Amino acid sequence: MGDVNGDLITFERVTCSYENQQVLKEVSFRVAPRETKVIIGASGSGKTTVLRLILGLLKPDEGRIMIDGQEISGMTEEELIGLRRKIGMVFQEGALFDSMTVGENVGYRLFEEGQLSEAEIEDRVRHLLGFVGLEEAIDMMPDELSGGMKRRVAIMRALGAVDAKMMLYDEPTTGLDPMTARTICDLIRKLRDAQGVSSVMVTHQMADAFRVGDRFLAIHEGRVAFEGTADELRQCRDEHVRGFLV
Ligand SMILES: Nc1ncnc2c1ncn2[C@@H]1O[C@H](COP(=O)(O)OP(=O)(O)O)[C@@H](O)[C@H]1O
Ligand SMILES: [Mg+2]
Repeated sequence: MGDVNGDLITFERVTCSYENQQVLKEVSFRVAPRETKVIIGASGSGKTTVLRLILGLLKPDEGRIMIDGQEISGMTEEELIGLRRKIGMVFQEGALFDSMTVGENVGYRLFEEGQLSEAEIEDRVRHLLGFVGLEEAIDMMPDELSGGMKRRVAIMRALGAVDAKMMLYDEPTTGLDPMTARTICDLIRKLRDAQGVSSVMVTHQMADAFRVGDRFLAIHEGRVAFEGTADELRQCRDEHVRGFLV
């Protein structure tokens, strides 16, 4: 995976609006293979919008977005569906389907695609759940799980649906206690190390950001206020970014 520069995701001066409100202004950044990029910023600063653009659910007004070497602005809906197969998305709140078992949740898109037999899907689902220590929960219903277990299942559902080389996490630890949040962060790191998955994680929890991130992007009112490593972030003098760190 990767474009000519080897990057998995490239945003070049991307501007994006909803109706007539401009929410992203000339946003540029890159994500390299195996890198975990953490996007931080206040509520409403445009973080989720960045993820929607990566998935092609929204189109930029201006600028270019390259995913895995392909510019996505000009893609047909069919091409976008193909692209989304390579990307696992964990939505804010990590919702599960309440009426399906844990196993059905994790295997959901595999069932839908219909390319594997039921036995093959079950194998895959067991393997994924085993990876997060939840194989025993395969026949349980979501409402029997704790918040942290639900979040792990949601991550495995996103990963299991695709041959994910890329995962997007929208505030995966919000609403979890610090210990549970830490286990989710460790899982995100484990996926990177064990499977070479590249990730973009949106969060406003700095402890989690530092636990997971290789590089950081701070967005303030739709503009990039900072991009760099953890050390650079700690030394950043931008007042909006500093306000975020304390
Ligand atoms: N579907 C939408 N229609 C109109 N405005 C939206 C929509 N989604 C988000 N916005 C607005 O765009 C801005 C950025 O939103 P978002 O990307 O969700 O921010 P964040 O994830 O950083 O909280 C906010 O002001 C929000 O109210
Ligand atoms: Mg958001």
